[in-house]
Amino acid sequence: MTEDQTPCEDPIVCFCYRVSRAKVAAFLRKKKPVVASQISECDGAGTGCGWCRRLLEDMHASHQAGGDPGQDLNQEANEAARRTWRSEPS
Ligand code: FES
Repeated sequence: MTEDQTPCEDPIVCFCYRVSRAKVAAFLRKKKPVVASQISECDGAGTGCGWCRRLLEDMHASHQAGGDPGQDLNQEANEAARRTWRSEPS
């Protein structure tokens, strides 16, 4: 990120379904899922390519621990990581 760019205020967590950090965080607060896979009920998050499942698990763990889920997410870093991940053979 350059100095003239501002950080994305609500980074996307699941690129397949365009589910943002704020949306997942709100889902966690309201629905209190017992396991991370239940976040799939939030607009299908994590049910596409699978790249974001680790992030969703981390957000779930953070919520369970009383933290602010995904507060350190960085849109640009996530996009770059996903591009690399997608290029790996399945
Ligand atoms: S990025 Fe979430 S399932 Fe693909």
